Amino acid sequence: MNNPTSNKRVVALISGRGTNLQALLDAPAHWLGGRVEHVISNIPDVSGLDRARAAGAETTVIPHRSFESREAFDTELIKTVLKAEPDLVLLAGFMRILTPIFIEPLVGRMLNIHPSLLPEFPGLSTHRRAIEAGHDMHGATVHFVTQELDGGPLILQARVAVNEDDTEESLSARVLTREHEIFPLASRWFLHGRLRLEGEHATFDGEPLLKPLDLDKLLATTR
Ligand code: GRF
Repeated sequence: MNNPTSNKRVVALISGRGTNLQALLDAPAHWLGGRVEHVISNIPDVSGLDRARAAGAETTVIPHRSFESREAFDTELIKTVLKAEPDLVLLAGFMRILTPIFIEPLVGRMLNIHPSLLPEFPGLSTHRRAIEAGHDMHGATVHFVTQELDGGPLILQARVAVNEDDTEESLSARVLTREHEIFPLASRWFLHGRLRLEGEHATFDGEPLLKPLDLDKLLATTR
């Protein structure tokens, strides 16, 4: 029997290798509550597009370099995304700053994965910055996308201990494995109707999330 919640449509935006996309493609539709139907990249020929095609998702390349302005690019992007009628839009390693033209129509149904424990280290080079700051904990965050760069309501985090001998590469590899745990899980919650954006707050099972959920604490309480 078909589970109707498996029919939800997910559109993913990528700019590169697409390992977070792969984690979403690998999630069974009945578990996730939907499928990644369409993958859009702003860079041609990235390996994430091959992953999408191999999984049978539709792909579109919208090269940002062909557009005169950020606004012109975002206008084309939002047109393509809305045509796909998504229930959920995922920024799965999409390395472009977005304007309100793109963000506004999707507020409340767009999630981003960011490689830091937000609000620490928004922006780029998060792993190097965490090491340089001498932090002993680092990690990844899923959040709703709003106008503020890496600043929308936080949903779910996973922590990684920083070792004394960590390099940017070794730390980013460990954080990445945790990204692959939390991005599909938060997407699942959204598609199953457990996660919402209500005003300024994310809500989970109807309760406002005053701080993000922590994956390890959740796992410890469900064990
Ligand atoms: C990830 O670290 C993600 O958090 C960041 O960009 C990277 C993309 O990696 N936004 P991948 O393309 O998913 O492998």
